[in-house]
Amino acid sequence: MTTREILVTSALPYANGAIHLGHMLEHIQSDIWVRAMRMAGHTVHYVCADDAHGSAIMLRAEKEGITPQALIDAVWKEHSSAFRDFGVAYDHYSSTHTDANRELTARIWLALKAAGHTQSRPVKQLYDPVKAMFLPDRYIKGECPKCHSKDQYGDGCEVCGTAYTPADLINPYSVVSGATPELKESTHFFVKLADFEVMLKGWLAQRRDAGGLQAEVVNKLQEWFADGLRSWDVSRDAPYFGFEIPDAPGKFFYVWVDAPVGYLAAFKELCDSGRNGLRPDDLERFIRADSKTEMVHFIGKDIIYFHTLFWPAMLHGAGLRTPSAVNVHGFLTVNGAKMSKSRGTFIEARTYLDHLDPDYLRYFFATQLVPSLADVDLDMKAFEDRVNSHLVGKWVNIASRCAGFVHKFFGGKLAAQMPASESAAYAAAAQKLSTCAALYEARDYAAAMRAIIEVADEANAYVATNAPWTMAKDESKRDALHVVCTLAINYFRLLTVWLAPVVPATAARAFAFLGESPTRFDAAIQPRLGASIREFSALATRIDTNKIEAMIEASKENLQAVAPATPAAPTPAPQATVATISIDDFAKLDLRIGTVLECGFVEGSDKLLRFLLDAGDLGQRQIFSGIRASYGEPEKLVGRKVVFIANLAPRKMRFGVSEGMILSAGSGGSDLHLLDADAGAKSGMPVK
Ligand code: MSP
Ligand code: ZN
Repeated sequence: MTTREILVTSALPYANGAIHLGHMLEHIQSDIWVRAMRMAGHTVHYVCADDAHGSAIMLRAEKEGITPQALIDAVWKEHSSAFRDFGVAYDHYSSTHTDANRELTARIWLALKAAGHTQSRPVKQLYDPVKAMFLPDRYIKGECPKCHSKDQYGDGCEVCGTAYTPADLINPYSVVSGATPELKESTHFFVKLADFEVMLKGWLAQRRDAGGLQAEVVNKLQEWFADGLRSWDVSRDAPYFGFEIPDAPGKFFYVWVDAPVGYLAAFKELCDSGRNGLRPDDLERFIRADSKTEMVHFIGKDIIYFHTLFWPAMLHGAGLRTPSAVNVHGFLTVNGAKMSKSRGTFIEARTYLDHLDPDYLRYFFATQLVPSLADVDLDMKAFEDRVNSHLVGKWVNIASRCAGFVHKFFGGKLAAQMPASESAAYAAAAQKLSTCAALYEARDYAAAMRAIIEVADEANAYVATNAPWTMAKDESKRDALHVVCTLAINYFRLLTVWLAPVVPATAARAFAFLGESPTRFDAAIQPRLGASIREFSALATRIDTNKIEAMIEASKENLQAVAPATPAAPTPAPQATVATISIDDFAKLDLRIGTVLECGFVEGSDKLLRFLLDAGDLGQRQIFSGIRASYGEPEKLVGRKVVFIANLAPRKMRFGVSEGMILSAGSGGSDLHLLDADAGAKSGMPVK
């Protein structure tokens, strides 16, 4: 086997919110890969960073009355410690707001410019005259041009699903100041993606054929080529938190320009640090066009274009190497549904760590991960069962049942030899698990875990059949007992070697018990004989259901604390007279009765009330409703019945997720009146 040298990255999390279990799916996936590739004998450099730039971060810092630098420093501490405590062992965790990144971004930009791949032209864009800034689409709201719902975002209507541009909104307003935005012209810089069309098509096909891109991903991208690649707008006007474009005062790189360069900048800092056996000049060896090294990115399916079109085009256009592989995963759902703050399934990494062992989640994710874009579900019941039955019941159990005898009768030493049948059984198991190296590399962790559990089942069957606890009572069977315990402990060791990338902390404790610290999969080819083992102490305990429940409860409590990505303030919109609809259209609406359990003001919003409804069979629903001006004493609403739309797509707002819409009559503002229902109506009843 030839040794490969690989730079591995995970997508850089935005520095404006906490790390949650959705992020962890990605970082755990990449960390397992890195550990497995190292155990297979390859050299791997593993870096990540916070993505610190952009309007959202600038505006959030302003809102909190701190500088962007103070905000990103505080978030960096939280993010890097969350990863560390989950066993995600980055060689370097940086930020995109560094000198290294500023320099590399400028270098790539200037190279693109020198090669003629850039252009500038005036662009008309909505501008907030009060705040004196151009507004990103998500910061403009107004009435949907199609269905006339109020308070819709600038990029599309969440009620009728129409996509449009902010200029199409009726009565648009700036979310930042409330002012009516004006169209204003400004010069923007572009990268001419069309220059790279041929290159990208070839690059995609080549990567797909070499296993560096999933076919699913390449297929998805085909539609982008259909109309030709449009130029990519890479500049933003001041005020913006980012890097100023060289020779263009007041113009900043759009956050998605310097974010992927952040991968290289983090690696540069690692080279400069001298760690991992790297030296400062290794950066050039890695990034030059003919580099013999590999660069592998792990990302979620929402950011494919940035990594498979813009990023390779930028690199190639600047005369540098392109990614060897972009590994795309699906999204995390919890208990079969999108993570929900009100249900307590929007779980932050830190909240998980306060309650449960990170290796449990790592193992569960491994059992679910395959190299596809399919979403991964964290079903809490399956999580609990899998960890208890596999990790504790099947793996740890092997050692716990045999270690005692080794100490009691054999001075803590394993037998120096095994009979042929035992040696053959071990060799067969070792042979079977050696296939896991390729499964890890192919990111088919689910298949690797299945193979591991099959061997664990064989090991447990061997122990059960030989019943060492019965043998121990018969002095004439000491040698046989020694053999049984020796093979059993070796099965345990074999399993530990192959599980180590997935459950590193537990494996480290297991290796301490075994009295060794193997770093390679090949350590398991031969059994360990004649060696001393330590006294056994519990390596992992069963999950207590109460801990899961406590974690969910704590996640509900986090509701108010979680920071928003973008501000929002919905109102149930009284609609203008609209076109007729068919009965089928009406049937799509799931209208229900809800009983108000809680109702109160929402801190930071002068429009909203927060409702918690008893929705009968549907459980409880949290809904934010813009009727504060009409209902100044929200607590008085507790106990009354309302009508609400139960199947409106949940909407993430900065206060939490709104899971429906409460109906009221009126023209808006202080003229809004909740609908009532007669006494016989019960929570959850459909309204027809
Ligand atoms: N900052 C950009 C990435 C820049 S990379 C040069 C970004 N940040 S993010 O914080 O929104 O997302 C970071 C990564 O987490 C992305 O790969 C994204 O797909 C992933 N996930 C975010 N939520 C997720 C789930 N619920 N499930 C799985 N992955 C998720 O995008
Ligand atoms: Zn609409």
